[in-house]
Parts: sequence; structure tokens; C-alpha cells
Amino acid sequence: MIVVFLLCVVAGTPTSGQVLDVCATCHPEAKCDNKPDGSGKVCNCKYGFVGNGITFCQDKDECQIGAMKICGPHTKCHNTYGSYDCTCLSGYNPSNNMTIFIPNDGTNCQDIDECRITGLCGDGGWCRNLEGSFECSCQVGYQVQDGTEPFHPYTGKASCKVVDCGQPASVEDTVLLSATGTTYGSVATWVCDEGFIWGSGHNTSVCGADGLWSGPTMVCEDIDECRITGLCGDGGWCRNLEGSFECSCQVGYQVQDGTEPFHPYRGKASCKVVDCGQPASVEDTVLLSATGTTYGSIATWVCDEGFIWGSGHNTSVCGADGLWSGPTMVCEEIDCQEPVHKPHSKTLWDGKTHIGSVVSYQCDEGYHSKSLNNHSVCGESGLWEDIDLWCEEISCGPPLIHPHTNLLWDHTSRPGSVLLYECMDGFYLESGTNISVCSLSGEWGEISINCQAKCGPVPFLANSEVVWHNRSVVMHRCVDGYHSWRGSSSSVCGSSGTWQPATLRCIEIKPAISHVHFLNEKCVQWKAEKYEEDSEDYRVTYTGTRDYQRSFRDEIKQYLSSKAEQLKLCLHLLPATNYSISITALSARFTASITTNTSLPEPPVPVVYYREFDTPVPTLRLNRSANTLDPISLYQVFVLPEEGIMVFDCSSPGSADPLSKNNFSSEYITAQILIGQVGTQMDFTVGDGLYYGGFYNAPLKKGRTYYIILRAVSQWKTTLKSSCVLWAKVTGTSYVLMVSSLSAAAAVGLVAFVILGGYSCIWLFKKK
Ligand SMILES: *[C@@H]1O[C@H](CO)[C@@H](O)[C@H](O)[C@H]1NC(C)=O
Ligand SMILES: *[C@@H]1O[C@H](CO)[C@@H](O)[C@H](O)[C@H]1NC(C)=O
Ligand SMILES: *[C@@H]1O[C@H](CO)[C@@H](O)[C@H](O)[C@H]1NC(C)=O
Ligand SMILES: *[C@@H]1O[C@H](CO)[C@@H](O)[C@H](O)[C@H]1NC(C)=O
Repeated sequence: MIVVFLLCVVAGTPTSGQVLDVCATCHPEAKCDNKPDGSGKVCNCKYGFVGNGITFCQDKDECQIGAMKICGPHTKCHNTYGSYDCTCLSGYNPSNNMTIFIPNDGTNCQDIDECRITGLCGDGGWCRNLEGSFECSCQVGYQVQDGTEPFHPYTGKASCKVVDCGQPASVEDTVLLSATGTTYGSVATWVCDEGFIWGSGHNTSVCGADGLWSGPTMVCEDIDECRITGLCGDGGWCRNLEGSFECSCQVGYQVQDGTEPFHPYRGKASCKVVDCGQPASVEDTVLLSATGTTYGSIATWVCDEGFIWGSGHNTSVCGADGLWSGPTMVCEEIDCQEPVHKPHSKTLWDGKTHIGSVVSYQCDEGYHSKSLNNHSVCGESGLWEDIDLWCEEISCGPPLIHPHTNLLWDHTSRPGSVLLYECMDGFYLESGTNISVCSLSGEWGEISINCQAKCGPVPFLANSEVVWHNRSVVMHRCVDGYHSWRGSSSSVCGSSGTWQPATLRCIEIKPAISHVHFLNEKCVQWKAEKYEEDSEDYRVTYTGTRDYQRSFRDEIKQYLSSKAEQLKLCLHLLPATNYSISITALSARFTASITTNTSLPEPPVPVVYYREFDTPVPTLRLNRSANTLDPISLYQVFVLPEEGIMVFDCSSPGSADPLSKNNFSSEYITAQILIGQVGTQMDFTVGDGLYYGGFYNAPLKKGRTYYIILRAVSQWKTTLKSSCVLWAKVTGTSYVLMVSSLSAAAAVGLVAFVILGGYSCIWLFKKK
């Protein structure tokens, strides 16, 4: 019972004036409490008691509400004085494990799992827990006895008992080998009976929960002893029986020492081959061979000599009945009949037709035998030996044709026929025989006729002569001064009656190189003498020398190869040089030589820069490049006083005598310098009063105007070549020189000066 006490303390002063002590009146089983409203004290029965608290407080029976309500499920309620307690029903346990409890601490009664105790249901029993209890039933392989399922071990006599299948049943063709028992789960094992072998299925059986043996499914099969060969002995035939076998004899064998069927392990019975004994003799035959006398043996006969097979088989077989069958052969005597007749022949025969009789043949006259054999014998087959004899008429056939002949012939080819050969027109009989006779052997007599052509006069070959000849061959050779160039040197009289002339060519003997000459001082030309298509290799060497320059030597070699007949080779020759050139034809080993001299050219124009001066001693400069003609060249400096129209001819003044006309009023040479002594540059001062090459370099007069001309001269012996250039103007007046079309480097032949109203002009005439 839950009693709720409400305690309220109210602040205030207690009511005074009440003297009654309520508490003193309280029942012994009550207690004194403050009133809830604080208006004084009150007596209340103690917990577990009911009443007015003063006169009556009686024990309260809490259990009367019902144990279920007060103690919870599966409980029993016990009232005590002033209280109560709870216990669990059997099969339940309090959750606090105390035997007595009050439920208000949460304790309750829980089901006990009795099945946790093993063996509760006995052997083969199966325990099932129930709410507050349990029950038993039997496991598979067990069945209940003395009761029904489910059962309780403590109530009644029911219990579980193992299933028993009893003794296993017997299985066909098998033997029970072992069994682990007769109860549920026991295993029985079988094996096949003697004479049987496992065929299919399992060989074990198990005792089931239903009290029955399952299986075995094994099937045992009969062993076929007949598969073992030779079990019944030679000629025996085995027959398999269920779990056994028996023997009988094959065809051609018979049982001995017993009866059929027999068993080889029991008794002495066995099979023996049938024997036919020796085969009987047959008329007109000979026993050729016999494979034996027992069943299946074969004997073979052949016809006796002089006899031939007529009909039937010639073999006999020993049968199962012990008798020879056959032979059915019938042999007949051999007869070849009358021999055949061969055309163009006679038959020689004694009229006999038995084996070995002979017939001969002989060819008629004029015929001869064309086979090796001419007689036939009556053979074993009853036929005359076939000979391919034939008699052929003798003929020499058509006559042979011989070249260049005509034939006289009567067109018969019999033995004795004659052929006569004659040479054709244009041919003569050189040698041999010309008559042929047809012989008995059918051949024409041998002919060796040789007709040669008549070719006429010997062929002519230019520039040749005949060395030797007969009627069919001519030998030629070239006449003197000619040589042969390839080809044959003999002409042959051909079978057609014409000459096949010699192919030899006679060619005039000439040097390999001729007509050598020079063109334009540059190219050498010559004519080659050689065989048409041949190519020749040439070596050309040329050597240049100069009288005026001992150290000079220009030596060059050149090669060329050509098929041409006219050859030209251009060379690089230097000027004013004597050259000797030699050309060698290398394969002909011939050398031709020629000399030539190159001409003297004009010297190169010196390179000067035209200038004007107003000093009487101007210094002039020129540049030059060295030249191989330097040893025969010199410079001349000309001074031309200005006067009217002036003409200067570059070629005219020779190498003047320095002193001859040095009057200085007109043009004069003021200096002469050898070119070879000048370097690449030269400075020259006009009028320095010195001598140059014997010329006096006279000072120029003041107040006059001069032109300075530089002239280069090359001279060798009587040949002289020169070139000029206007170098400078030296002026004493205020004239201005107008230069028109003047190139300082231009080669000048003539220089004309004209003074025209204050301008001084120069015309340069190029020398053509
Ligand atoms: C007979 O036997 C022989 C020898 O074996 C054989 O060559 C011949 O073909 C057989 N037949 C006849 C009809 O002779
Ligand atoms: C001519 O001479 C050649 C070469 O010696 C020879 O083969 C040929 O038989 C001769 N001919 C005659 C007709 O003598
Ligand atoms: C060339 O040869 C001739 C003759 O021998 C000779 O007089 C001449 O001076 C030679 N010329 C040169 C440039 O050597
Ligand atoms: C070579 O020079 C000589 C004299 O020096 C002259 O007679 C001759 O004609 C010249 N020959 C040629 C091919 O120029």
C-alpha cells in the first residue's frame, strides 16, 4: 500500500488557547501529524494500519486486492501484521534472488528455464521450456513408451526409447559383411556373392527413424567367365551361365572322354579336331599340295602332264563331318588342232596335234621373214605357240638423193634394180662411185659421188694479188704499200657455183697522224688514220720557249680519246713564244710534231689617273700588273707643248735616239724606263732634270702648257707594238682642260688637241 503524506508547514502563529493535547490521544498504532492547514495536530494510523487513529487502528490485509495486483504476475501475496510480502510461484524466480520481496523496488518473478538441466527428459528426450514449466518429447530415432507426447518426466511413466530396425533383410547375390547394430543409425555393409561382381548402387544400408533399413541399392552382376580365352581348351566353345559356365565343341571339333556340355575343371572331357585322313586320288590329276588332313585343310590338284583343265574346281576341303569335299575338277587331254596358215609362206608339219608337236614356216621366193622365230610348238594351253611371223616382199625402197646430181632409174626397187647418178650442169665429178644396185638384203649399194661446182674466174680484190689457188679455194694478199685490215684472206667456191669472195680489205699504209696544222695560234688540227669504229687515245705535249727570256718554259700535256677522223684540240698558248708540239697516237705508237710561234700583242695599257697641275715639276703615279712580256717592254714619257691643233700618233715614234731631236719646242721623250724594273706602282716627276734611259728629263718652261703622255712599248726583233694614255696636263695659263669621253685607261692611238675659246678639248682616236 502506498501512502502519501502531505506535509505542509504554514508560517504563522499557532492558535493559542487550545489546551487539548491531541497527540496524547493517538492510538498506539498511530502517529501524531501536523494538520495540512497548520491548524493543529492530527492522529493518523501508521503505515499498514487503517482506522481513525485514536480509537481504532487495525492491520490492513493488502493481499486481499489480489496477489497479481499487489505483487505482480506469477506471485503469491502474504499478509503480515502491518505489512505484507511476496514470493514467486513455483517455476519462477524472483529477479533479486531473495525468497521474499516487496515489489516496489522493481523485483518481479521470472520464468525458470528448466531445460538448461541436461538429461531432464531422459535418454532420447527433447526438452521444451514453457512459461513456469517445461515439457518433453522424443528425438528422431526414439519413440515414446508408457504414455503420449508431450510428457512430463515427473508426472506419469512416459519415457523415450530408441527405434530398433531388427535384423537387416538378405539381398540377392550378396553377403552381409558387417552391421554396427540394429538400432537407429546403425550401418550394415554387403559384398557381392562369389561369381558376381559389383554392377551399380551403394553397398550399405542404414537403420532409419521409421524402424526400417534403407537400401542397400547395390546390384551384383554375374561374372562372364567366357571372356577368358582358351577356358574351354582348343576347339572348345564357352557359354556363360548365371554364376558359372559350360563348354561345348566348335564346328570341326568333337568331344572326347566325355559328353557335351562339359566343364573343364570337372571330368576329363575335351575337344579334338576332326581329321579327314589322306585325300583320295583323282583321275588324270596330281595332288599338288595339302595344307593338312584336319578340318578346314585344303588339298589342291593340278591336271596331269598332257592334260588340261576341263571343268570343276581343283581344290578339296576337309569338312566337319571328317570327309573331303570334292575335287570336282575334270582334266582333258591336250589337242592343239591344225596349225594356222601364214601368208606368203609354206607350212612344214608332220600332222601331229599333241603337246610338244612342232610346225615350221618358210617364206615364198622374193619374200623374206621379218621375225626371229619361224616355228611354233603345241603348248600346254592346247594352243599353237603364237609367233608374229610374216613374210615381206624384198624392196630397196626409194633411192637416196645426192646433192648436185641427176638420177637415171627405171623406178623398180627389186633386188637387182640399178641406179645411175650424174653430176648436174655446172658441176663436175670430183670423186666417188655413181652406180648403185639393189641387193638381196633390200638395200641400195653405197654411193660416194662428189660433184663440185665450177665457179669461173677467181674474184678480184682491190690492191691485192693471188698467192695460191686450186679449183675451189683462192688465197689473196695485199700488194706492197698496202696492208690488210681484218677479214678473211681466202675466197671459196660455194656449192651454188659462185665465189664467196674474201672479206679482206687492202688499205694504203699511212701514218696514224697526218695533215697537222695550226689555226689562229690556238688550235691544232690533224687527220687520224685508223680502222672505222676504233677509238684512238692521243697525247698532246707542247713546249714554249723564248729567245729573249731564257728562264721561260711553258710545258703542258693533254690527253684525249676520240673516234673522229678529223681532230681539233685548242690549246692555251702564251704570246710571243716559240712552241714545239708533238701529238702521239698511243695505240698506233705514232708521233707527229709541229712548231709554231705566237705573235707579239699590244702591251696592256698602263692604269693612270689623269690629273692637272700648275707646277713645273709634277709627280705622276701609275699602277701596273706584271706581264710575261715585261723583258721586251718599256715605258716612254712624252711631253707635248700645247700649240694649236695637236696630233699624237701612238705608233709612230720608234725607239728614238735620246739626243737627236731634243729641241723641246715640239713633242719629245723625256724619259724611257724598262717595264721589268718597275714594280706594281711607279711615281715619276716630270722635269726633275735627271736622265732616264738616256733621255734628259728637262724642266718645263713656266707660262707654257704641256700634256704628258705615257706610252707602253713591246718590241722583239723588228716587231713593235705600243699603247698610249694621256697622263696629265701641266698648265702655265688659266685654261681649263675639258676632258671629253676620256677614259684614262683607254688605249689611245692618236691624240688631237684643240683649243676652242678658253676650253681645251682632247679627242682620242682609237686606233682600229
Ligand atoms: C588349280 O590349282 C593351281 C595351283 O594352286 C592354280 O594355279 C589353278 O588356278 C587352280 N585352278 C584350276 C582350274 O586349275
Ligand atoms: C683446194 O684446197 C683446199 C685447201 O687446201 C682443199 O680443202 C680442197 O680440197 C682443194 N680442192 C681441190 C679441188 O683440190
Ligand atoms: C723563234 O725561233 C726563231 C728561229 O729559231 C728565232 O729566230 C726567234 O727569235 C724565236 N722567237 C722567240 C720569241 O723565241
Ligand atoms: C716563226 O718565226 C719565224 C721567224 O722568227 C718566221 O719566219 C715564221 O714565219 C714564223 N712562223 C709562224 C708559224 O708564225
